[in-house]
Amino acid sequence: MSLIPGDDDVTTDAGGAAGSSVVPVVRMRGISKSFGHIQALRTVDLDLYPGEVVALVGDNGAGKSTLVKILAGVHTQDAGTVEFEGRAVSIPSPSASRDLGIATVFQDLALCDNLDVVANLFLGQELGHGPLDEEAMEQRSWELLRRLSARIPSVRMPVATLSGGQRQIVAIARSLIGEPAVVILDEPTAALGIAQTAEVLNLIELLRDRGHCVVLISHNMADVQAVADRVIVLRLGRVNGRFRAPEMSYENIIASITGVLNLEEGTPEDDPRERSFDMRSPDTRPGSTPGGTFDPRDGGPR
Ligand SMILES: Nc1ncnc2c1ncn2[C@@H]1O[C@H](COP(=O)(O)OP(=O)(O)O)[C@@H](O)[C@H]1O
Ligand SMILES: [Mg+2]
Repeated sequence: MSLIPGDDDVTTDAGGAAGSSVVPVVRMRGISKSFGHIQALRTVDLDLYPGEVVALVGDNGAGKSTLVKILAGVHTQDAGTVEFEGRAVSIPSPSASRDLGIATVFQDLALCDNLDVVANLFLGQELGHGPLDEEAMEQRSWELLRRLSARIPSVRMPVATLSGGQRQIVAIARSLIGEPAVVILDEPTAALGIAQTAEVLNLIELLRDRGHCVVLISHNMADVQAVADRVIVLRLGRVNGRFRAPEMSYENIIASITGVLNLEEGTPEDDPRERSFDMRSPDTRPGSTPGGTFDPRDGGPR
């Protein structure tokens, strides 16, 4: 059973590759956030370590985007603390987030369709003063894409002409220009076919192997199981499960997402209640809310 409580116990939140002695690159404690009457996040704790892929999963409205938007400087938390590489920080703006070393690729990618790959990679961070150093940027673009093993036919193509997978890869490549410690990807494979999904998953593994921490928001359990070292489940604004590869099972993650399995606050790691949850399919249980997005035909083990 791989359910890990550990709201305060940092060692249980340690990344697979990193081990527990490493200082987390990001440590969030007691994060709460409301929008009017809606409490989007309730006392969420999260540690992120270098060299790991952490999947953030949960049904629509669970609070995933709100949590990463706090790291991205889009929202400010109402309560709770964020540490970056061991020191307390506030992240009042997206540029403050980038300056710390946190890169976020939102679902809309924010690419400029009419501009070519080079222009998109360097948008807002152009090389050279005065006239742009086009040659240097083109050179850097090729280097960057080659390091990512990205198959882009030409860096002088407008991104509108690229496939969905290539566009995702350009958006990820763009986020890497400042050498961020943390790369946050919101549903990077949602619009992609099988081959393109595989390319993006390979890229995620490559980023991890290069020491980045990758935070992956995904509805696709097959993708999550393919690349995640740890899975954090949010439900109704709370952490409702922490799982670690390779023991994490599809059934446990889904049960945790739907609330069939509850991680109660302060539940000790060896609490027998955690071993006695009902393993029937969430769909068959009364009162459960299996969203259509967790159709096993889409997200089941490959
Ligand atoms: N800017 C906002 N204004 C008002 N409510 C919001 C805003 N952003 C998110 N919410 C609400 O907060 C809750 C969590 O949303 P979100 O973080 O987007 O969930 P998820 O990404 O897991 O689907 C939802 O109830 C959502 O409607
Ligand atoms: Mg969201």
